[in-house]
Amino acid sequence: MKVPFIDLSRHHKPLKSELSQAFENVYDSNQFILGQHVKQFEEQIATYVGTKYAIGVSNCTNALLLSLKALGVKTGDEVITTPFTFVATAEVIAMLGAKPVFCDIEPKTMNIDHSMINDRISSKTKVILPVHLYGQSADMDEIVAIAEQHNIAVVEDMAQAVGAQYKGKNVGTFGATACISFFPTKNLSALGDAGMVLTSDDVLAEKLRAMRVHGAAKKYYHDSLGYNDRLDAMQAAFLSVKLNYLDTWNERRREIAHRYDAAFKDIVQIPYVHPHNVSVYHQYTIRTRKRDALREFLTQKGIGIAVHYPVGLHQQKAFEYLGYREGDYPEAEKAAQEVLSLPIQQDLSDEEVDYVITTIKEFFSRS
Ligand SMILES: Cc1ncc(COP(=O)(O)O)c(C=O)c1O
Repeated sequence: MKVPFIDLSRHHKPLKSELSQAFENVYDSNQFILGQHVKQFEEQIATYVGTKYAIGVSNCTNALLLSLKALGVKTGDEVITTPFTFVATAEVIAMLGAKPVFCDIEPKTMNIDHSMINDRISSKTKVILPVHLYGQSADMDEIVAIAEQHNIAVVEDMAQAVGAQYKGKNVGTFGATACISFFPTKNLSALGDAGMVLTSDDVLAEKLRAMRVHGAAKKYYHDSLGYNDRLDAMQAAFLSVKLNYLDTWNERRREIAHRYDAAFKDIVQIPYVHPHNVSVYHQYTIRTRKRDALREFLTQKGIGIAVHYPVGLHQQKAFEYLGYREGDYPEAEKAAQEVLSLPIQQDLSDEEVDYVITTIKEFFSRS
């Protein structure tokens, strides 16, 4: 048997007629840039998460970039974030000439360790940028309290966590802004690149809206400069269709995760989800010292796996100039050696899940 890590054709097959209809609607409207389809999806996602505004942009990387810029982050400033994330989180900080100041992770959830943030704050700190890694919220009460105490902003990187909850509140409602990715492999995915900035702040919303259209609050009047950074109308129409299914999909991911949990709890470190969190399991990521051997074994057995992430950002060549060294973030470094993400796509059959379970058990019974 082969179990794909992710299979988009399987995901899209039952949606084909609805997505085709969405395509035709946009095609017939000739409104390819912003317009009704983008507006409708923005309203849907703002209602779904519970923010006043949603501003559709071209991807999550730029959602983060625009957020930091709208909050005034510039050369010489510092932004505190995790070293154990996709590069985009820290890349945008550097692209604005600011310094990514990393803060190590908490080894059970692999989210930023809030107890270490205070020590990283300086007079230059402008923003704390937590990532809700693998679909689970970071410790938002503590992070927001630290930010308020120091009068700095929080930007949530919720690229992996649409639909997740923290203490009964939706992820995306805690920061000055929150940024979503609709990359094709995400829980809520476009058929291309797409992203969103959420905010309930009137001034930030206005700035962000202008920034995505070259800084123009009014067409052809540019009080400031911005970017060409709009959510594509076609993608917005596809996303409107898919949003209706997101809760069902996330529920199925949780169901698969619970079956994995029960099967693996005595043989590897299974994902730890705080009792106050509802995870959407963007990834189901286990930890084991035998990671590399297990990865090879599963690959041979036809099971798709991935490593999120093999290198801490402080050890990436691109960030060498920051002067971080091996040993600076021991928990992130250890996680990078041990993590392995298993198939968790909602469309997996029970037989496929069982095959993953028996294969992993087979590996550990032999080694
Ligand atoms: C945590 C995190 N932040 C940011 C991004 C960037 O998203 P996008 O590809 O939409 O720019 C990703 C995408 O993988 C991500 O996982």
